[in-house]
Amino acid sequence: MPKKETADSVQAHTEAKLQFYTKYLERYLQILLVAQGINKINIYDLYCGAGQYSDGNTGSAVRAVDAVWAAQVKNTLRKAVNLHLNDLNVEKVANLRGILANKESAEKRFSISFSTFEAFEFLRKIAPELPKQDSQTRNLLFIDPYGYKDIDKQSLHTVLSSGRTEVVLFLPIEQMYRFRNKTTDDEVDNSYVPLKHFVEQFELDVASICSEKDFISALEAALSFGGKYYTASYSIRNHTGHHYGMFFITSNLLGLEKIIEVKWELDSQRGQGFTGNDQLDFFLETDRLSDLRGVIVDLVGSEEIDNRSMYEFVLKKGFRPKHANEVLRRLFDDGLIHTVDAISQQRARKGSFKLNYREFKTDRASIIYRGGSGE
Ligand SMILES: C[S@@+](CC[C@H](N)C(=O)[O-])C[C@H]1O[C@@H](n2cnc3c(N)ncnc32)[C@H](O)[C@@H]1O
Repeated sequence: MPKKETADSVQAHTEAKLQFYTKYLERYLQILLVAQGINKINIYDLYCGAGQYSDGNTGSAVRAVDAVWAAQVKNTLRKAVNLHLNDLNVEKVANLRGILANKESAEKRFSISFSTFEAFEFLRKIAPELPKQDSQTRNLLFIDPYGYKDIDKQSLHTVLSSGRTEVVLFLPIEQMYRFRNKTTDDEVDNSYVPLKHFVEQFELDVASICSEKDFISALEAALSFGGKYYTASYSIRNHTGHHYGMFFITSNLLGLEKIIEVKWELDSQRGQGFTGNDQLDFFLETDRLSDLRGVIVDLVGSEEIDNRSMYEFVLKKGFRPKHANEVLRRLFDDGLIHTVDAISQQRARKGSFKLNYREFKTDRASIIYRGGSGE
């Protein structure tokens, strides 16, 4: 198994993980605290740790509390937020109770609850309750284990299926990748049984996986449960050059847009991952936009596509609408695409691409993209 944080300090890759989680949490709260039709938000941190490292850095539990407090300025509708902190280690949870003793607020409707279950046992306990929740409740689960052995695909599927739950999952990839080929025989050495089980659960075709990054991509695809959910991944490279994967699963396209914003905020040049090397390289972003241009040209060339499906397509490719607007503007200027108003069928106003969640949620397209200059 990958090394535990024996030094009890926050290394660069751990900081990258915590940033990914908290930046998403901040966006999640900002949206839900003002959204109509939502009145309760549950955040579950299933492997919450002790809250503080000996180097003074804080862990996910304390950072989540800070994020909830920071978001309270937006909470003018006094929506209820519960942060549930679980860790198998009783001492860690006792420590957290101490650190967080004064952080709840009945007036703000912010509560913190604790438990010391095995994480997936806890998940199996709450899973039957989620579909019974009021439709105005939303849940965010943060799953940050030391390894992959506990991960139970069926439990993840059950909690996601209510459609009101999003999952952020952190997994060490190196070991899984290194020993992937040990899982292909019918009979495997005892020490590889958990890995074999993991590979089989997610139906990973290990023969076609040739790098740790490939492993992350294959897992990202598997976590979509056959395309039922939107998924995104973010790779985190540690100082030895090996990778961890952050995975995000949601049934909500706005959730996907927000996680993609986080990816691009943390990796401004590629929107893909943390490498520990923050040298700016303008060409990386240019390369990525040229990839996007290629897939958009192919798409528009092969079918008639409207603004709602373009918005979804771009996000599923890991880009933000602002990237797509930039690419579309250039294609327009180069005479490679033109746009038509979906209702009047007349040429649309120049530069009006309407790629956003509000448009996506309407049941009618407003813009159609077509190949060529349309002259
Ligand atoms: C990677 S650490 C989590 C770190 C934490 N998220 C933070 O930011 O400080 C994993 C945690 O899982 C706990 N743990 C290990 N096995 C567990 C299990 N099966 N169920 C729940 N917690 C477990 C450990 O005690 C440890 O605190």
